[in-house]
Amino acid sequence: MSETHVGGTADLPPGTVTGAGRYAVGNNGEYFAVTRRCRHLRADLAGGTIDENGCLVCPWHQSAYDVKTGRMVRGPQGVFAKVPGLGWSFKMWTKVMPLGRGRVTKKGDDVFVT
Ligand code: FES
Repeated sequence: MSETHVGGTADLPPGTVTGAGRYAVGNNGEYFAVTRRCRHLRADLAGGTIDENGCLVCPWHQSAYDVKTGRMVRGPQGVFAKVPGLGWSFKMWTKVMPLGRGRVTKKGDDVFVT
């Protein structure tokens, strides 16, 4: 299993997300890493944000993911939210196919993901 350097701890303060290899790595009070491609239309989740619940929010249509489980907890918003069953079906899909999770470690002032 290869280890990827994410950056210094100063580069990843609480409330931020960045990309490191195949992972979107963030800090919602705890460091987390999930695979980068949104299950909806594959937006890069490294460009996402963290909401008030600590979930990772997709930058394109604001689906929200529980970063501990990799499951979508809110479906795509905007025009997609008006499609009956769409949010429900994506949430069910990520129950079966959640985002992959990486392991984040801190060594001194540096953050790594494997
Ligand atoms: S691509 Fe992520 S919600 Fe649409």
